[in-house]
Amino acid sequence: MNAPTVPVLRTAIPGPASEALAARKVAAVSAGVSTGLPVYIDHAGDGVLVDVDGNELIDFGAGIAVTSVGAANPRVIDAVRRQVGDFTHTCFMVTPYEEYVAVCEQLAEVTPGDHEKRSALFNSGAEAVENAVKIARHATGRPAVVAFDHAYHGRTNLTMALTAKNVPYKHRFGPFAGEIYRVPMAYPFRWPGGSEACAAEALDAFVSQVHAQVGEENTAAVILEPIQGEGGFIVPPPGFVAAVASWCREHGIVFIADEIQTGFCRTGDWFACEHEDTVPDLICTAKGIAAGLPLAGVTGRAELMDAVHPGGLGGTYGGNPVACAAALGAIETMRADDLAGRARHLEELFRPRLEALASKYEQIGDVRGRGAMLAVELVESAEDHTPNLALTARINQACHRSGLVTLTCGTFGNVFRFLPPLVIPDDVVAAGLDLLDAAFAASV
Ligand SMILES: Cc1ncc(COP(=O)(O)O)c(C=O)c1O
Repeated sequence: MNAPTVPVLRTAIPGPASEALAARKVAAVSAGVSTGLPVYIDHAGDGVLVDVDGNELIDFGAGIAVTSVGAANPRVIDAVRRQVGDFTHTCFMVTPYEEYVAVCEQLAEVTPGDHEKRSALFNSGAEAVENAVKIARHATGRPAVVAFDHAYHGRTNLTMALTAKNVPYKHRFGPFAGEIYRVPMAYPFRWPGGSEACAAEALDAFVSQVHAQVGEENTAAVILEPIQGEGGFIVPPPGFVAAVASWCREHGIVFIADEIQTGFCRTGDWFACEHEDTVPDLICTAKGIAAGLPLAGVTGRAELMDAVHPGGLGGTYGGNPVACAAALGAIETMRADDLAGRARHLEELFRPRLEALASKYEQIGDVRGRGAMLAVELVESAEDHTPNLALTARINQACHRSGLVTLTCGTFGNVFRFLPPLVIPDDVVAAGLDLLDAAFAASV
């Protein structure tokens, strides 16, 4: 067998050039903006990040599920270069341009449901979520929004209110926006009544709490990540997402799917809701949509999206033409190269290796996820499911030192998540999984 060509480590991680930049960062960048692995990147490709010391690292994070088509995708680069040469900004609300319309046409095609749709474009996931809530409130005339335990929807004031986890996202940043109500999430691994009972009991809890504590007639929207991201890659039991959506429909409540992390082929379909046969009323997208250029969208039923008065939605940069050009290049790549199929293939590479680790180490309590969005949850032992934060941190550091970029997540910080670029070559995946094995062996 040929030796893997990556990672290539020329220095310790981080190396001296990265250390020098980290020192400049301390003096110039707010301490509130921290870095998980302070290697400074010089250039990047399909699943490989090359740092300023010449180290070549394997990327199992894709910039948090963003560079699905790769960090230097040729179609994206060509489209961006062309657009930058033509013009960089006019403001769509002042003098519009075709690229914005073309992205909205693509969103209508690739998002679930064949009903008439409209979209509006923004700059970040949080901004998309904010606007979805604005649209739902405006269209229904109701104030309340329901979000779930372990949810993550962003860091602006309204989206902090929707996000569940305190440190680091909310701590001392309140007071938060009002009329947000939280209900239990269907989290099979930690459901008090056991995973078998989770679907039915979680749905009961959701319905009864919204009824008793909020009131259906006061509720504008329910927002749900079909697989929760930052909260721990929590996959609700089959049927939960569809049941929540259909209960919302019965009560005239807008069902918002936050597919910012799960969207654009990540879970093996264009969108994770498809796997659940669920058509959301509004869907929020960002991250994978434009290969890293700042772009986000809200797409939804025409009657909801068009309920808003002219001028009610927008922003100076939303749907910037360069970001739209990148999105058109990224979406074309997802279609042409069947990246949803590629995500399913990545699951076939990752899952058996993660399950083999789980059968070796009782500290892996759960292996879960879908497509190229997979995770392991670390606990104290097979009997004691207390979150094992210390072990998670040790393994993460061991991965980093060996040249593998890994991410953790979870309300309790004890989940390893794997979000490789969808174009990562198989041999790079295998080399990364070997490093993960070694990190477990050295750390448990
Ligand atoms: C599900 C989900 N919603 C919203 C956001 C916020 O997106 P952004 O960081 O672009 O504001 C994220 C980001 O991680 C996310 O995963």
